[in-house]
Amino acid sequence: MENLVDKNLFQGIYKNRKVLVTGHTGFKGSWLCLWLKQMGAEVCGYSLPSPTSPSHFEELNLDMKSVIGDIRDQSLVLKTFEEFQPEIVFHLAAQPLVRYSYENPDETFESNVMGSLRIYEAVRKVDSVKALVSITTDKVYHNDESGKAYSEDDRFGGKDPYSASKAAMEILTASYIHSFFNIDDYGSKHNVLVSPVRAGNVIGGGDWAQDRLIPDIVKATIEERPVVIRSPDSTRPWQHVLESLSGYLLLGQKLLEGNSSVAGAYNFGPSVDEDITVEQVVKCLKKYWNKINYQIERPDVAYHEASLLKLDSQKAIDSLEWSPVWSSFEALENTITWYKDFYESEELSSLECLNSYIAEARKKASAWI
Ligand SMILES: NC(=O)c1ccc[n+]([C@@H]2O[C@H](COP(=O)([O-])OP(=O)(O)OC[C@H]3O[C@@H](n4cnc5c(N)ncnc54)[C@H](O)[C@@H]3O)[C@@H](O)[C@H]2O)c1
Repeated sequence: MENLVDKNLFQGIYKNRKVLVTGHTGFKGSWLCLWLKQMGAEVCGYSLPSPTSPSHFEELNLDMKSVIGDIRDQSLVLKTFEEFQPEIVFHLAAQPLVRYSYENPDETFESNVMGSLRIYEAVRKVDSVKALVSITTDKVYHNDESGKAYSEDDRFGGKDPYSASKAAMEILTASYIHSFFNIDDYGSKHNVLVSPVRAGNVIGGGDWAQDRLIPDIVKATIEERPVVIRSPDSTRPWQHVLESLSGYLLLGQKLLEGNSSVAGAYNFGPSVDEDITVEQVVKCLKKYWNKINYQIERPDVAYHEASLLKLDSQKAIDSLEWSPVWSSFEALENTITWYKDFYESEELSSLECLNSYIAEARKKASAWI
């Protein structure tokens, strides 16, 4: 894939930098690897095979090292770290699906908690690592259904196995920071800065996961059937995957620069005032891909729906000067256009999408430009 992205983004920190990404065969990881490669980073991925077919990672065909392995396999994890000698690690590998976690709680807890432990052990043992960005989710917060936006110091919770496993991973991360990567000992007893990061559900091309609205709409469209919408009035913000990645990369830059004052937890959420209903989403998507058809089927019995968990991203805005670039409608337009290009023109427009995002960030003078 041709290189078109400015290598000086994020102060050019990723150029020739050795970056290890776990979960690189997945939706978010594949976009992160594309962006890193475009900025001239040397990237090594460590992950199980792609969880979906088609697979965005396979379609991208990036020139990078790809180790297929389980994060629970301590010896392969350690061997990969020792051979590659990464300077920064973005840890995304996880079992990320809520419904699947009810059917497979063991695998979910083992991958998300014990797998993370194996990664942290490698970070502890391999001296080349200077920074770790560990990806969890907004679902780590205890949702008291007050509708308030949660900030980094709010208490953890998680009623389903997935959310609880990610909350447990946060406690594990906090214990590693306290015990081995304490900021007070940075530069004397260790050289690693660690940040757990929390983002909500994101959208974007190349996601074929189960039980997510846009992949479901796309699947129905290519099968030439209407998608059934059961909660047309549910509202939520719609954030593009590149928004959370710009936050992770900006934070990674600061950690690599040795800025210990910024190490710690961050939320990277969408603007809280941008809720759009599911019906508005489908109508918006149809504007860009007319083949989309839908039918609304409201269930006879109204069921209780937990109120939306909102993230307060003020810390990222104040400390990192990070801010979202695209509105929800722009995120929707860029997402559905990607799928339309993929299915109707056999075009992979990921790089064009990344470049449009960067162009908009430039107009808005984003901190990482
Ligand atoms: N997509 C979202 O909207 C969203 C929202 C919040 C948080 N997250 C988090 O972001 C991360 C990436 O999510 P995604 O949407 O790209 O998911 P995904 O399912 O597309 O990718 C998950 C990746 O982890 C790998 N993986 C799973 N179990 C593994 C194991 N035991 N060993 C090695 N690799 C393993 C998969 O092979 C895949 O590469 C996850 O940590 C997830 O919890 C995602």
